[in-house]
Amino acid sequence: MHPMLNIAVRAARSAGNVIARAFEQQDKVEVESKGSNDFVTNIDKQAEQVIVDAIQKAYPSHSIVGEEFGLIEGTDPDYQWIIDPLDGTTNFVKGIPHFAVSIALKVKGKLDQAVVFDPIRGELFTASRGKGAQLNGFRIRVKNSKELTGAVLATGFPFKKKQHTDAYLNMFKALFTKTADMRRAGSAALDLAYVAAGRVDGYFEMGLKPWDTAAGELIVIEAGGLVTDFVGGHNHAKSGNHVAGGTKVLREILKDIRPYLGDALAK
Ligand code: IPD
Ligand code: CA
Ligand code: CA
Repeated sequence: MHPMLNIAVRAARSAGNVIARAFEQQDKVEVESKGSNDFVTNIDKQAEQVIVDAIQKAYPSHSIVGEEFGLIEGTDPDYQWIIDPLDGTTNFVKGIPHFAVSIALKVKGKLDQAVVFDPIRGELFTASRGKGAQLNGFRIRVKNSKELTGAVLATGFPFKKKQHTDAYLNMFKALFTKTADMRRAGSAALDLAYVAAGRVDGYFEMGLKPWDTAAGELIVIEAGGLVTDFVGGHNHAKSGNHVAGGTKVLREILKDIRPYLGDALAK
């Protein structure tokens, strides 16, 4: 295993332990609101601290962007870690056992190492640039489904940006009528990991942040899939609008959502 991936895995497992332990003692979880339908708990912050400590101990010169603490600038501009200590906070707060730790490393602006860890199921999804993607050490690949008929797509609702409800529901309807079914499980990082593992055929969601998707994106790509924005371009990290899947399903999704892209969503 690449030494930087090894550090990421250790950090994700330590943060996962903090989260899994707290999940069993909900009375110790303190919830705060940080925006519209956007919650943070003391556990998100504790988990982020554990990850930051592990990275800084191994690589003190690297930069870190975390959802809760923002940017911690390092002296070496080539290495940047992107972390979501707890992706799926709403599930965590409600007692639904589906959430993950997400850690990615960019080297000179390119995704290089990635970990998505589900601490409840003990599922560790990993990828190193050019080396494929793994689930608990076994190689995973995206499903190369030919069409939407029979496909199951993962998605996320724009619950933090309800102004996009109509646009989103139009896209949902266009796809739902063609697919076998849809899943809204509540963790973008796991949605992408499930695309990589071939558990779902594709994924789309709008309004995401870099830490939701950085690790999942590399895992999908290394599993032989594609990740694009809503027009098939590479502006997804910036726009927050993501489509993922095998080539054919991704093309079908893009075609079906095209009529519902206002200016704001196409960029
Ligand atoms: C959220 C989850 C959710 C997605 C949201 C994200 P958080 O992350 O990934 O599935 O629909 O857009 O913000 O807030 O739980 O880390
Ligand atoms: Ca997230
Ligand atoms: Ca989070």
